[in-house]
Amino acid sequence: MDMYDVITRKKLGEELSKDEIDFFIKEYVKGDIPDYQMSALLMAIFFKGMSYRETADLTAAMAASGEQIDLTAIKGIKVDKHSTGGVGDKTTLVVAPIVAACGLPVAKMSGRGLGHTGGTIDKLEAIKGYNSELTTEQFVKQVNDYKLAIVGQTGNLAPADKKLYALRDVTSTVDSIPLIASSIMSKKIAAGADAIVLDVKVGNGAFMKSLAEAEELANCMVSIGEALNRRTIAVISDMEQPLGSAIGNANEVLEAIRVLQGNGPEDLLELSKVLAAQMLIVGEKTSSTVDAYKLIDNAINTGEALDTFYKFLEMQGANINDIDNLEQVISNNTERFKICALATGYISELAAEQIGRATMLLGAGRAVKDANINPFVGVIFHKKAGDYVKTGDTICEVRYSEEIQLQSVVSVINNAIKITKNVVQSQKLIHKIIT
Ligand code: URA
Repeated sequence: MDMYDVITRKKLGEELSKDEIDFFIKEYVKGDIPDYQMSALLMAIFFKGMSYRETADLTAAMAASGEQIDLTAIKGIKVDKHSTGGVGDKTTLVVAPIVAACGLPVAKMSGRGLGHTGGTIDKLEAIKGYNSELTTEQFVKQVNDYKLAIVGQTGNLAPADKKLYALRDVTSTVDSIPLIASSIMSKKIAAGADAIVLDVKVGNGAFMKSLAEAEELANCMVSIGEALNRRTIAVISDMEQPLGSAIGNANEVLEAIRVLQGNGPEDLLELSKVLAAQMLIVGEKTSSTVDAYKLIDNAINTGEALDTFYKFLEMQGANINDIDNLEQVISNNTERFKICALATGYISELAAEQIGRATMLLGAGRAVKDANINPFVGVIFHKKAGDYVKTGDTICEVRYSEEIQLQSVVSVINNAIKITKNVVQSQKLIHKIIT
């Protein structure tokens, strides 16, 4: 087989065979196909697209390119949850203990944040002692004993994706639906998921800016799941404004704990329940959404979800004293600055991407892959889109450390906030569920 022919066929919009796809993934990972040829193929895929069948074959080839985690030693259906990335998105910290408290094993591999979006592992590592690197034996044992473990991605999971993503990043081929869908799904499949619940974000702070694009991506990933025998459901949720009130790693853990205690923000609770219900359904704990909601409410109201969260954190080395005093720990490590309304009216926009960028500038996120982060800095919103404010009311509080240029962060946040005289309709949080 010849890479030149594969590139030519895709350039002409032809459908590549499974053998051709297996060939270019294997040879590229081995180093026998140079970056310039792979770049040409990626650009041809970008312009000509791929059928669902090709995309599923690409996903399977990428998943098979490295280590494939065997979770068969864990009893029950292993359901993974994945978010396409957002600002203030700490749903995993809420959903995972709820679902685990309902009896479904959660064996989760999560990533770190890059750019304006956060990552679950960074949030968990904000707690002193948290160990995100368990051996496979420890990981399996913890899930069997306590139903929940969350670790960082191992180095050799879907190496084809790692190599391709780095190339896409520098060849302007990241924003291709088949390439995004296969990249995400290959890692889920290599991580051993039996079933997958996807949270596809749409809006200003998301990869997908329009509902039509988000639906296309969701449909593509659901079709990959079906083709590879993993039951997959996609929830399309709003990312015009940050999710919940808190952004920044320790601040988000604190907010997740508040939701599990029954007093967190409404939007975060709503999305967490929708995702948890879908996980319980694909994990065959129940077939009805009404029953799923009853199980979820019970897990929160009895405190079982919170207990599960604490136990899991303790088992992964977190300092429980630090968790109990998280608010104090954040205060001890940060200064506060209030950002106030510059006009009277209704908040029509809290642009998620700019707010995510401002939080990154504070030190909560990374502009480049290996940058250090400050676990305690962040932004806490007191008002959200649709709320009425008077000039001078506090919209949000910035928690910062002395080293940063506070004024540039404040100006980015001020530019992200729009206030109008007219009443603003509250934004829809859940746009669609695709099964
Ligand atoms: N996230 C991924 O893992 N891959 C992509 O291509 C885009 C987002």
